[in-house]
Amino acid sequence: MTAFPVRRLRRLRRSPALRRLVAETDLSPRRLVLPVFVKEDIAEAQPIASMPRVHQYPLAQLAAVVDVAAEAGIGGIMLFGVPAVRDAVGSGATDPDGILNRAIAVAAAAAKGRLTVQADLCLDEFTDHGHCGVLAADGSVDNDATLEVYARMALAQAEAGADILGLSGMMDGQVAACRAALDAAGRSDVVILAYSAKYASAFYGPFRDAVESTLTGDRRTYQLDAANGREGVQEALADIDEGADIVMVKPAGPYLDVLAEVAAVSSVPVWAYQVSGEYAMIEHAAAAGVIDRERAIGESILGIRRAGAEAILTYWAIEVAGWLREGRALA
Ligand code: PBG
Repeated sequence: MTAFPVRRLRRLRRSPALRRLVAETDLSPRRLVLPVFVKEDIAEAQPIASMPRVHQYPLAQLAAVVDVAAEAGIGGIMLFGVPAVRDAVGSGATDPDGILNRAIAVAAAAAKGRLTVQADLCLDEFTDHGHCGVLAADGSVDNDATLEVYARMALAQAEAGADILGLSGMMDGQVAACRAALDAAGRSDVVILAYSAKYASAFYGPFRDAVESTLTGDRRTYQLDAANGREGVQEALADIDEGADIVMVKPAGPYLDVLAEVAAVSSVPVWAYQVSGEYAMIEHAAAAGVIDRERAIGESILGIRRAGAEAILTYWAIEVAGWLREGRALA
């Protein structure tokens, strides 16, 4: 006689009610963070061609965006500035009147404690060469000279009212440099989110459109090599040693192994950034009728959460928060 299985894993999959009851992974709106692009000198929101449904906003519309985000119940917004003028040292980043610092102030006033205001702390949006730091005479990115600029940028962002600074430049020692500058200025209250395991990735492509970056060359001398998982974990541990309050892995989908390893060893919260290219792939594939848009979005985000992200930066934050509030399953 055939030996029938005693152990039947299909038993718990039999009905939607059973599946809902035994689902291991959940998500709630508080765990989602929306990246927001604020552009200097525009009057109306402008669509970003490579990122369907995502816009650059004028400063005048930012308070309304904050209201929508707060009503959606998400955990925060991550601000990016698109300046009208760029220069070699990224002066707009440290200027209190620079577009990002003004955006932080507007968002902090509009947020009224309903959600956190986070800011990208990096020079690439502000430099005319598009690199994340200042350049040495030989054209390479000068790590230690950049740290001084990051420290001033941290103070400007803290002064403008940011709750969380997202250090995304991948310079060695950036967390320690910003923490020391903040503490010395009496701002030990400001949270540092370290983009610790940030890989040199083709998936940032649409973001370059979103911030109109003019990068020539690549970022491989400072962002991580896609081949290296162990190095990503080491970056996270180094950032924790330097005082990072939260560490992040980025992109998310192609680096779920790194995310899971960091989550297993981290003593601080671990987040992930589902980047512009991950977003664009699903949007464009869905528009072409190749995949089911909502299921693909839900599955991609649930996968990131399952791998260990406690919060997720995603351009779908508002829409997904709406689904969660309706009690919909994500995948
Ligand atoms: C650096 C920064 C980048 C992204 C977030 N912060 C660009 C880069 O490092 O090349 C990419 C985010 C995305 O692709 O959605 N300012």
